[in-house]
Amino acid sequence: MRQKILEILMDNMDEFVSGENISHRLGVTRAAVWKHMELLREEGYEIESVPRKGYRLVDLPDTIDKALIGWRLSTKVLGREIISFDSVDSTNIVAKERAAKGCMEGTVIIADEQTGGKGRLGRSWVSPSKKGIWMSIVLRPVMTPTKAPLITSMAAVAVTQAIANITGLKPTIKWPNDILIDGKKVCGILTEMQGDMDTIQYIVVGIGINVNLDMDDIPDELKDKATSLKIETGSFICRVAMVKALLRELENIYLNYIDTGDSKGIIDYIVDHSATIGNRVKVIGVNTHLEGMAIGLSDNGALLVMLDDGRIEKVMSGDVSVRGMDGYV
Ligand code: BTN
Repeated sequence: MRQKILEILMDNMDEFVSGENISHRLGVTRAAVWKHMELLREEGYEIESVPRKGYRLVDLPDTIDKALIGWRLSTKVLGREIISFDSVDSTNIVAKERAAKGCMEGTVIIADEQTGGKGRLGRSWVSPSKKGIWMSIVLRPVMTPTKAPLITSMAAVAVTQAIANITGLKPTIKWPNDILIDGKKVCGILTEMQGDMDTIQYIVVGIGINVNLDMDDIPDELKDKATSLKIETGSFICRVAMVKALLRELENIYLNYIDTGDSKGIIDYIVDHSATIGNRVKVIGVNTHLEGMAIGLSDNGALLVMLDDGRIEKVMSGDVSVRGMDGYV
């Protein structure tokens, strides 16, 4: 009922809808409609009510709610199913469970809080309640698993574009999965894949964006390495608007790649916005430990590192430290 009332109000945003109209459409009493309006107000929806005119939705809360995210979402595939939680251990874990059970491509799992957020290489990901975007997207691309790193690249481009569009900030991309602002991490991407040598069964793209975290929300040991959009802009950023922008950007990039198989636009964008390429790097991965000059990206999104003996290594994954004024960071 709450959902249906909300949809009527949102479809008529800024216009009055009479209590009688709503009660007639939903087959409930006007007293029940009034009760739901009160509950929505308690959730943070700003609803004006005027005698003989009815109810008018004036403003929406910044709640991670599937009705809010799905409302006028212009995507075709990403977000056609949205599953939202107040709190969950990890959206990637839920997404993998749903994907294994056959959920639709484009399913979005999103939460206000993660109690066991996962980072890359077994690390944890701090995901405080109502402060960030903690979201996983299930994809089922028809492509060979060797091309899977491109999906992380697509997500990195989409996040960078969405942040730039909404905040005016100019993020950079630290290969393969970190989005930085002035050298501090504002977003991490954890891509997990299920498949065999030839086919991908599903990919879960987990995206964590520090949106409205304050300095106090960032653990002491990360204070010089991590930041949030609010810290950088000095203003509160609407998470729902950011999620919608991100889904739109990612869908454009993803569907274009699936249609054309052309990764040039993605690679060029990363190279242009890279915090890695053109710098000396150390890469530590499961089977990799190397040092050299990051010179570019392959068309699969692998990092090309020129070693000191002139050989060029293609790195598919790993943890990269970039050499700056203070050594490798
Ligand atoms: C990293 O930089 O180490 C990757 C961090 C990825 C965090 C996101 S938050 C949403 C999704 N669910 C998780 O448990 N992790 C990813």
